[in-house]
Amino acid sequence: MNAIRDIDSLVDPTHDELARQGFVSRLRKHVMKDVADTMRDAYDNAVMPSFVTTHGREPETGEEVRDAISNNLTYRVWSSLRYNAQEMVWESVREEVERQLPDMISIADQASHSNSHGGSLTLDPELAMPDYVDTMDVHLMPGCWQDEHAEGDVAQGAIYAHGGQVFRGSLLPSKTRSGVAASVSKWLSIRYPEFKPEKILETGCTIGNNLFPYKDIYPDAELTGVDVAAPCLRYANARAVARGVDAHFSQQNAETLDFTDNSFDLVVSSFFFHELSVEATKRVLAECRRVLKPGGMMVHMELPPSSQVDAYYNFFLDWDNEHNNEPHYRDFRSRECADLMASAGFSADEYFTASIPDVGGADPAYFRQVALGEAEPPKHGIYTSWGLFGAVKAA
Ligand SMILES: C[S@@+](CC[C@H](N)C(=O)[O-])C[C@H]1O[C@@H](n2cnc3c(N)ncnc32)[C@H](O)[C@@H]1O
Repeated sequence: MNAIRDIDSLVDPTHDELARQGFVSRLRKHVMKDVADTMRDAYDNAVMPSFVTTHGREPETGEEVRDAISNNLTYRVWSSLRYNAQEMVWESVREEVERQLPDMISIADQASHSNSHGGSLTLDPELAMPDYVDTMDVHLMPGCWQDEHAEGDVAQGAIYAHGGQVFRGSLLPSKTRSGVAASVSKWLSIRYPEFKPEKILETGCTIGNNLFPYKDIYPDAELTGVDVAAPCLRYANARAVARGVDAHFSQQNAETLDFTDNSFDLVVSSFFFHELSVEATKRVLAECRRVLKPGGMMVHMELPPSSQVDAYYNFFLDWDNEHNNEPHYRDFRSRECADLMASAGFSADEYFTASIPDVGGADPAYFRQVALGEAEPPKHGIYTSWGLFGAVKAA
């Protein structure tokens, strides 16, 4: 029996806090589905015909859609509700986290001195934060990933853990998805049955949500997560210790990893690159290539490049660029993954893309067929399917 309590379980919302969180989750769903559908009608029936009258053609880019729709009342209601719902996500968990923070910090501290799980936490207080992290509250999360206000602070990790559940609606009864890592690891095990990674690295691991599940498919693998944010890494490490997962967490900038060449069999990330400047993305990809063993594999989950979806969906996705403190979002999506990979030294033979269903929501037979290339892969749909790009490093 492990002596360290699960840091996730410390949060104990009051009746009113739970009610508020449920409301915010439902508000987000309402905004992203019902109000979004009404906005689409407004676009199809008013905004787009007016654009065609003026320009003699339909909008061709997300920016043209954005400019055309920006004064439409339904858009303004949707955008305002979406922005406010995003702020309410974090606010809805703030008080419960603040209440438990001293105990959380104490648990994380105990975990940082424990080696019962075979893992480790290595922090670098001198690490310089990249501008794209340091100069804004990404996702409108106050304090972003890295702010610290107490010795051994874990608040940002806790806010992300619990706010993330509100954001995804995980507290609502209808959850039928397993997430990126569960889906990617299952996909790898079907598509590449001979591939048995011994050392797995995640860049931008935050609190380990999409690192831990690799243990379910590859129980003997050693997990390593790097991130620039100490509060998130302390939180991730506390979770690992409580779960008995031998994961190593290290505070590093993924643009300049301190691992030796050819260290890992598998390098992964999720929801990561669109937050980086494109130049930083190229440096991280080059580092991934450097630390991968020959024959090793790299798999990144990301949003679809703008060339793969229509102008309206580009407008819809790129809303975050202006309104969610993700200023590199559009620039990242405007690049072809193949070009980014080439700039990092990967050859066309090594590179691949894939779209896979979420393993929790999909029929297992369909999931398997997609993995084996025997069924049509799903179209992009955040949380129901995952867009991947990656490479098998030449042996
Ligand atoms: C959207 S979160 C990633 C979420 C996480 N992969 C998951 O699936 O839950 C982005 C993370 O990347 C980290 N990050 C941003 N730039 C980084 C860099 N250059 N090196 C390492 N981590 C970075 C941030 O601190 C943050 O924790």
